Amino acid sequence: MGASQVSKMENPYITRTPVKDPEGFYGREGIMKRIFEDTARKQMQSHCIIGERRIGKTSLLNQLLTRDVKKKYIDANIESFVFVGTDVTLFPNAPPAAFFDEWAKAVSKTSGTVLTEPGYMNFRTFVRDVTETGLKIIILLDEFEATASNKNIDRGFFEFIRALTQNYDISFILFSRTPLQHLLREEKFRSTFSSPFFNALNISYLKFLEESEAKRLVIEPSRRAGVDLVDHVDFILEQAYYHPFLLQTLSSIVFNHKRSSDINQEKILKEFADQTEEFFSYLWQHSDSSEKEALKKLASYDYDIPKPVSDNFDRRSLLTEDRTRIFCPSFEAFIKEHT
Ligand SMILES: Nc1ncnc2c1ncn2[C@@H]1O[C@H](COP(=O)(O)OP(=O)(O)OP(=O)(O)O)[C@@H](O)[C@H]1O
Ligand SMILES: [Mg+2]
Repeated sequence: MGASQVSKMENPYITRTPVKDPEGFYGREGIMKRIFEDTARKQMQSHCIIGERRIGKTSLLNQLLTRDVKKKYIDANIESFVFVGTDVTLFPNAPPAAFFDEWAKAVSKTSGTVLTEPGYMNFRTFVRDVTETGLKIIILLDEFEATASNKNIDRGFFEFIRALTQNYDISFILFSRTPLQHLLREEKFRSTFSSPFFNALNISYLKFLEESEAKRLVIEPSRRAGVDLVDHVDFILEQAYYHPFLLQTLSSIVFNHKRSSDINQEKILKEFADQTEEFFSYLWQHSDSSEKEALKKLASYDYDIPKPVSDNFDRRSLLTEDRTRIFCPSFEAFIKEHT
């Protein structure tokens, strides 16, 4: 259902699933423009988008697959671009052939060409035949870090993919929670992830929305649903900063309170803490000991933390953009309580 079709007073915020409808999706114009420009280039360029949990990777991937969004960004005939989205976690321990089969099936819907036999060489021929007809293939891989635990994916797989991108009109857009350089730190992943394929990727970090986008995310859905949150936008941004998931979650709670004309800030913040606990636990548990140490310091307003740690927090969207504090007061309270 399109956001404009949300019936009056129905809660319009999306809190539990990635955004699909472009109408409910805010920001990310710069990165979308870069990706589409690079796919339309003569020599296509592959990308890796790195972002912390719930920052909006899958929602962004969904947009790239949407016809209206492609039309907005691609000047050329969009019918000549075949976008394929694959969630790597749906292929646990799958061999390369399973991925090739999945991609070829999706491409076949547009190209009509079919992959008859499994194997590297057959997939290469398939890609050659499809791209020779003038089609460009763009493969989007969500939860890319899951390939690290797939024993059937080795360095040879990535060498092959790199060779494909160098010889044919095919590119890959990887979405990962873990920066790829972190995988290189682990002995068991080093050989695979030191493949030159990864050096050729254009890396971007997905972080907070812009302030104006954050405000629109709060106000526009509520207006469409007939319960205007404009008077609460300062409070919501103060608590959720420009974090899309937290903005959706808090807006949703405030919306319900306002609809029942019972705005009680204390109750709202209690509900917000309950609904974000799992997310904050994840952020905490996925911090190493030096990061935990630094988070504890920041939560007690001691800003003397090492530069590499603060750089890493910035990439993980844990600090406000001016790096003066932990981005969200509820996360700060969570750290104080759990230490
Ligand atoms: N650009 C956006 N506009 C509006 N809401 C967004 C946007 N990006 C993310 N969200 C909100 O944040 C939530 C999390 O988004 P999403 O599932 O895309 O994140 P993710 O990075 O893929 O998370 P995970 O690492 O858990 O897979 C969504 O349910 C949605 O509420
Ligand atoms: Mg996701």
